[in-house]
Amino acid sequence: MADHAILSGKRVLLVIAGGIAAYKCLDLIRRLRERGVSVRAVLTAAGARFVTPLSVQALTENTVYQDLWSLTDESEMGHIQLSRAADLVVVAPATADLLARMAAGMADDLAATVLLATDKPVLVAPAMNVRMWLHPATQANMELLERRGVLRVGPNDGVMACNEFGPGRMAEPMEIIDAIAAHFAADKSTAHFAADKSAAPATADAAPKPLAGKRAIVTSGPTHEPIDPVRYIANRSSGKQGHAIAKALAQLGAAVTLVSGPTRLADPPGCTVVAIETAREMLAACEAALPADIAVCAAAVADWRVAGLSDRKLKKDGGGPPTLALTENPDILATLSQAGERRPALVVGFAAETGDVIAYATAKRARKGCDWIVANDVSLGTTTFGGADNTVHLIREGGVESWPTMGKDAVAARLADAIAERFRE
Ligand SMILES: Cc1cc2nc3c(=O)[nH]c(=O)nc-3n(C[C@H](O)[C@H](O)[C@H](O)COP(=O)(O)O)c2cc1C
Repeated sequence: MADHAILSGKRVLLVIAGGIAAYKCLDLIRRLRERGVSVRAVLTAAGARFVTPLSVQALTENTVYQDLWSLTDESEMGHIQLSRAADLVVVAPATADLLARMAAGMADDLAATVLLATDKPVLVAPAMNVRMWLHPATQANMELLERRGVLRVGPNDGVMACNEFGPGRMAEPMEIIDAIAAHFAADKSTAHFAADKSAAPATADAAPKPLAGKRAIVTSGPTHEPIDPVRYIANRSSGKQGHAIAKALAQLGAAVTLVSGPTRLADPPGCTVVAIETAREMLAACEAALPADIAVCAAAVADWRVAGLSDRKLKKDGGGPPTLALTENPDILATLSQAGERRPALVVGFAAETGDVIAYATAKRARKGCDWIVANDVSLGTTTFGGADNTVHLIREGGVESWPTMGKDAVAARLADAIAERFRE
């Protein structure tokens, strides 16, 4: 959950573009204000078709800026000053149109001009029809913006206002607030145009960087194994632990590639994120990220996928339910652990067990050939999957260390410290 202490006193410039999700930004403003954030808003002409300037003004308790050519606004707070007088610029909803204009470096209205002129980090919350989001033009624009350092939260999967299903729904206000808090918590002050995501993580953080120069691969989240074009087999992993580990390693200076299955989480700051769906895609992305010094396999990878995937939706045809034949997925942890010359110097696996946790995890460490195993209990009644806390045992050559129940961020920080210690030896 977003931390009030991190957010209080921060200044956000909120750019509201013309998408149906604009109504959610009223709730976003309210929740930011409750957390002590001061909000100024820029409304595009299309945005003003979805929310009234009056509502935005009432909730922000500030002037709402709409017009590049307003003499009053220019004399009170010019567009350049507006672009700088914030700690973070948030674009929510970010329309396909505005993302395209940002990517092209256009300055044809106040929103685009402010986004081009700003020297502050920018976080976008894309929101659009699934086809618009998946269109190669939008994907290319988003990729380019992320390479330039623009931060992104969402979009989420779900039923859209247009009744289609898929990715395109704007992240919920609390998810946007979590992403804003995560940004400030990471104390990341790189300007939005400064960084190529494949480059080393932000250097503004004054914390020691014992993993500087090291490359790490972290896997996170579930995998989705398709049954047919509309159905898939998944699991309950939220990705919170894996994402927290990626963030913690990046904070210690490692160049982190996070290979993530579908999650609802914001990309952790300072990491290169590769989004995948299936176990086979996850393995390919990990292999592409080699060589690396460290691999932490925290993803809940499906052991099996459906053999003989149907390219057409399975139908109820009166012949009874279909039988799904399963086939084994590649073993990512074992593959990385046995990668010969390309094997990372330290391979850490996760073991989610529902009983005899330490015994099973110890056997898994030997079977897979990894160096360390982080074992946790995911039996019914625990909230390891999806919850905020984790109770883990770290199994290494020297024995088992049982850690007290901690938040997933704290588990990640302690694991990252142990990894840094290992490289100091
Ligand atoms: C009813 C309606 C809903 C729309 N919803 C979206 C949307 O959710 N996302 C989007 O990218 N564009 C949406 N559009 C199209 C944008 O409003 C249009 O591209 C506009 O030029 C965006 O301008 P802006 O990016 O300056 O705000 C919608 C248009 C209409 C008429």
